[in-house]
Amino acid sequence: MNKGVCWMEGKIQPLSEARVSVRDHGLLYGDGVFEGVRFYHGTPFMLGEHLARLQDSARAIGLECPWRQEELTDIVTEVVAAFSQAQGYLRILLTRGEGALGIDPRSCARPQLIIIADGLQMMEPAVREQGADLIIASTRRLPADGLDPRIKSLNYLNHILARMEANHAGAHEAVLLNTRGQVAEGTADNLFLVKDGKLLTPPVTDGALAGITRQLILDLAREDGLAAREQTLAPYDLYTADECFLTGTGAELIPVRSIDGRKPHQCPGPVFQQLSRCFHHHIDQHCRNNP
Ligand SMILES: Cc1ncc(COP(=O)(O)O)c(C=O)c1O
Repeated sequence: MNKGVCWMEGKIQPLSEARVSVRDHGLLYGDGVFEGVRFYHGTPFMLGEHLARLQDSARAIGLECPWRQEELTDIVTEVVAAFSQAQGYLRILLTRGEGALGIDPRSCARPQLIIIADGLQMMEPAVREQGADLIIASTRRLPADGLDPRIKSLNYLNHILARMEANHAGAHEAVLLNTRGQVAEGTADNLFLVKDGKLLTPPVTDGALAGITRQLILDLAREDGLAAREQTLAPYDLYTADECFLTGTGAELIPVRSIDGRKPHQCPGPVFQQLSRCFHHHIDQHCRNNP
């Protein structure tokens, strides 16, 4: 039974009954921005960071968010309380709202805010334990001069095409390269590798989303004494990594077992295990102690 709930127009209703207008430019043109937020022990994790990124994404596309951060926080708290479980996933969408047929956003009078709470299982528990198989997709990450990767927009079609390549190949996830052939990220997650004791992840300027989990992992790694830095990576670096893993709000931390059939030395490796412990400890500290 689907117990998901949805906030829209000031009301919370069962997710299965929530409907949007077919004139919403979010639906017609992907004109809008979003965030995915997990909650643990009934408390949204890193909500402030997610709401700040949502506001920045909205500002970057010239979409005025009528709700202040405190108001959004209050609505999120209400939605989490209405969901029957202490653990789950929030999807916060801000669309351009209803408008005329035609791309011009000036016909949209008022943005539409939608907040969904539901469960999310991005990968099977067995994959989380044994590791995900990745392919490098032929679909490339859109270049920043086409769409800045810092904007978390409702346009995910090139990520979906890459994920379809993974599905077709029987893999769990795809790696997107940028138009220069450098590693950008996964379809809905960031990528890390470990080589000679160093933790490396591609810089945002190579096409990675400025992932909130990615930043947390960089911070936790440094606090724990690991050498961690952003570095441009080629497919070669993935193929020859000692360890590799994915990070994201939905993904949390997932070890990688293979990339195009090449296997990192260890999966899950010691650095992954160390960071995974730090990550879950951090979640517990922040969510268990902030009811
Ligand atoms: C394309 C993409 N990259 C990376 C991520 C991971 O970012 P975060 O850790 O902020 O969830 C996401 C998450 O939605 C994403 O959609």
